[in-house]
Amino acid sequence: MIVFPGFQALDVFGPLDALNVLAFTTKINLTVIADTLDPVSTNKVSWTNSSVGATFGETILPSHTYATAPPLDVLMIPGGLGTRAPGTGLDTTIAFIKARYPTVKYLISVCTGAGVVARAGVLDGKCATTNKLAWATTTPWGPKVKWVAEARWVQDGNIWTSSGVSAGIDVTIAWIAAVFGEAKAVSVANGMEYHRQTNSTDDPFSALYGLTNEKNSTNQAVDKC
Ligand SMILES: *[C@@H]1O[C@H](CO)[C@@H](O)[C@H](O)[C@H]1NC(C)=O
Ligand SMILES: *[C@@H]1O[C@H](CO)[C@@H](O)[C@H](O)[C@H]1NC(C)=O
Ligand SMILES: *[C@@H]1O[C@H](CO)[C@@H](O)[C@H](O)[C@H]1NC(C)=O
Repeated sequence: MIVFPGFQALDVFGPLDALNVLAFTTKINLTVIADTLDPVSTNKVSWTNSSVGATFGETILPSHTYATAPPLDVLMIPGGLGTRAPGTGLDTTIAFIKARYPTVKYLISVCTGAGVVARAGVLDGKCATTNKLAWATTTPWGPKVKWVAEARWVQDGNIWTSSGVSAGIDVTIAWIAAVFGEAKAVSVANGMEYHRQTNSTDDPFSALYGLTNEKNSTNQAVDKC
């Protein structure tokens, strides 16, 4: 799991908690990766100072840096306001995704994390989705991506992208079903007492924000997705 300043908490901890439950019965290892080993906060990003003056957020401790991360089977990328870091803020993250994607078995992104993956070029020509509220600001990061608006999540080969925030839990459980079997996925969802969405195209939030597969901001060939 990659983290950067201004990551969205549930984008990280929703998928990780599904995997925490999976880890009760399955031998898996977690690597939390960032620029340095310093705590990484959901807030403390100067370019997103709250206009109401709130200081509110949580931190996570990385286990590895981009320089020390071991070989990975699965690369997970969260979204959040931090995906809008100005200047060179995400350059190391983007370079890491670009370098590591060819070596991993799966890539999973949550929310606007798809925009960071798109900037690494990894989604070019692929079908993907992202947060619907942030659709207009995120999809231009991937002009060659077939962005699918009406989706809770999209799988294209070994790449799984999900819609906003809580959709990361659904994509992770869907991925668990695909890799470890439906019985494990059911047991994880029941262990979390999570009301799981199993239909990847059932997405009320595309309708809420007026997005359809025919009328989205890029109008790519989503019929082939
Ligand atoms: C998982 O972590 C343990 C303890 O650090 C290590 O011995 C093992 O090799 C790791 N397994 C994988 C697949 O990375
Ligand atoms: C955000 O707040 C910090 C601390 O008060 C301040 O140093 C920084 O200049 C502010 N940034 C913006 C963009 O307002
Ligand atoms: C999945 O959701 C879509 C959109 O609401 C609906 O059209 C489709 O029938 C659903 N599929 C299943 C298998 O329920």
